[in-house]
Amino acid sequence: MKANILRSKTEIRRLATPQDLFQAAAEEVLRVGAESIQQRGRFTLALSGGSTPKSLYRLIAANAHDRLPWSKVFFFWGDERHVPPTDAESNYRMASESLLSKIPVPPANVFRIPAEDPDAEAAARSYERTLREFFALQPGEFPVIDLILLGMGPDGHTASLFPGTDALQDQSHLVAANWVEKLDTFRITLTLPMLNAARNVVFLVSGADKAAALHEVLEGPAAGKQYPSQLVRPIQGKLIWLVDRAAGSVLTPGE
Ligand code: 6PG
Repeated sequence: MKANILRSKTEIRRLATPQDLFQAAAEEVLRVGAESIQQRGRFTLALSGGSTPKSLYRLIAANAHDRLPWSKVFFFWGDERHVPPTDAESNYRMASESLLSKIPVPPANVFRIPAEDPDAEAAARSYERTLREFFALQPGEFPVIDLILLGMGPDGHTASLFPGTDALQDQSHLVAANWVEKLDTFRITLTLPMLNAARNVVFLVSGADKAAALHEVLEGPAAGKQYPSQLVRPIQGKLIWLVDRAAGSVLTPGE
């Protein structure tokens, strides 16, 4: 079965340059933020890690630090490396340095993954409790986060849901400690049902090294175990792929 069903529920925006991509992403964050605050009085936002979103965070900090009432914005993470928040590899540290330290967001609104815990499973359970308390969930219920930002690796992974890893099967938890053999480490990641419960999911994909995987994810046969990004299909929510020309270079032209 071809994965084209993906397209009917998905918006793919092609941007000429990485800068255009970050500008489009910033506008989407601010649009969903304003709409969420107007409709529900708050904006819940899960940040992605890796290198791609750093430019987006810097753009928002530089040009939009007064575009949202940050006291009504609540920050979460899609995943974290199994390191302390001071570590150079920390997704929290990257977001803190490029965005959070530059906007007037109350520290109580920032819910980072406690990845300094040497026990990755304990860190995942702790973050799950944090999410369950914040969203006042009933047992078995998944929260609806207003916007989840995601990236995609050259292997088609997203958050820390890597090809062939155990967390891909997890349909009951909000957060998983996922052993990633090829990185020889645990990662702490939101699970697929958690991602697919979101109101909005926005992928940021930049660079030629992502082109082959992006083609497989968006136009290839159904192969979610091999290309986990293909498994991100919000049940009720909106899915937007923001891709620059280099990353989209193998996609069918101009759809
Ligand atoms: C992480 C991310 C991961 C990232 C992709 C793309 O912790 O690394 O959450 O899913 O989005 O690996 O990374 P780049 O943006 O660095 O290419």
